[in-house]
Amino acid sequence: MAATERTQVGIVGAGPAGLLLAHLLDRQGIASVVLEARSREYVENRIRAGVLEQGTADLLTESGVGERMARLGLPHEGVILRFGGQDHRIDFRALTGKAVMVYSQHLVVRDLIAARLAAGRRIVFEAERVSVHGFDVHDFDTGRPRIRYQENGAERELECDFIAGCDGFHGVCRPSVPPGVLTEFERVYPFGWLGILADAPPSSHELIYSNHERGFSLLSMRSPTVSRLYLQCAPDEDLEAWSDARIWAELQTRLAGPGFTLREGEITQKGVTPMRSFVVEPMQCGRLFLLGDAAHIVPPTGAKGLNLAAGDVAVLSRALGAWYGAGDESGLAAYSATCLRRVWKVQRFSWWMTSMLHRFDTHSPFERRVQLAELDYVASSIAASTALAENYVGLPFL
Ligand code: FAD
Ligand code: PHB
Repeated sequence: MAATERTQVGIVGAGPAGLLLAHLLDRQGIASVVLEARSREYVENRIRAGVLEQGTADLLTESGVGERMARLGLPHEGVILRFGGQDHRIDFRALTGKAVMVYSQHLVVRDLIAARLAAGRRIVFEAERVSVHGFDVHDFDTGRPRIRYQENGAERELECDFIAGCDGFHGVCRPSVPPGVLTEFERVYPFGWLGILADAPPSSHELIYSNHERGFSLLSMRSPTVSRLYLQCAPDEDLEAWSDARIWAELQTRLAGPGFTLREGEITQKGVTPMRSFVVEPMQCGRLFLLGDAAHIVPPTGAKGLNLAAGDVAVLSRALGAWYGAGDESGLAAYSATCLRRVWKVQRFSWWMTSMLHRFDTHSPFERRVQLAELDYVASSIAASTALAENYVGLPFL
């Protein structure tokens, strides 16, 4: 017989979506339990995104978890587009009045875990065989959601009012929705990114997105002493074929620019990420809500993955606040439609940045000229650069 526990919201996944949701619910007095398949050490050291939209950074600050970000985050007021041997700066501050914050996703995760544990709330790390049940009724009044899992080999059951599926693209929540309820929309790109972390001071104060004949590359950073760099590669690129010397030589070629010197250093981490766009509709089934990568994936060119997750969390935490506070069901009923309006705009932006900046082997010389003309237009038109800036710093959450 499984030991049963009761909470208001059962949250599957301790990535940015699950942890931020738990945090915002806690601030409204709503109880939750977070179940995470991996260890605390693993999730706290998983290197992923690095750019926070202004709205995401503000949400962390306003909810009391922005202290380290204020000290260590790097506010950025623009980015550089590099193509045709020239640099073109997109000035976010001048064009939108806003900026972004360069701050590692794994530090956001650490800050949220620290805040939750300091408040005496529960995260079950290394939860095994997590499965979700009882949500699949569209009538809120009859749903009786339960999450089953094993903790240290013992069977457990969590009874809750709602389940938040924050378990990423490969999680269990989305596949648990009965067939026929969800529609998937997907685009897989014919390339991936080879990403490195290097102990080298960033060679530029701002991010450089470079469109080069040999393929896209990106210069980003994590701190005044750590660079984060990416190279377009095959989706299944063999890392073994990339010695450190080869990676630096390729980066030197693709990032070459006027008066620019790329500083090299020891490579401390390497990985290949395939690229896809994916959305599931609706992002809800009865009392199960899908958030973040569990519901949608974007190619990283627009730096949006983590920010989209934060947007979903903002919508759901507000809707749950209204439900528990005033019995108002309207926010929960509109959750999917509200999120999807933003999700599709962010999908469009991420697809557009990806299409404009990468090398496509299938492009004819005509299509390549059109791509360069698009970059030239974005760089030279205030209307077009404002459109890029407005999306990059982030569309409103609600
Ligand atoms: P996740 O961060 O994936 O968190 C989901 C959590 O659920 C994980 O901790 C996972 O262990 C847990 N989980 C999974 N299955 C179960 C289960 N059955 N039971 C319990 N727990 C479970 N975005 C950018 O903007 N820039 C980048 O450079 C960038 N790089 C990326 C590199 C990689 C390799 C990946 C995968 C993503 C990257 N992203 C990037 C995207 C960004 O990191 C994600 O959009 C973001 O992590 C989404 O947060 P999330 O909480 O929805 O999902
Ligand atoms: C990163 O710093 O990891 C990063 C920055 C911008 C992107 C993608 C990734 O568009």
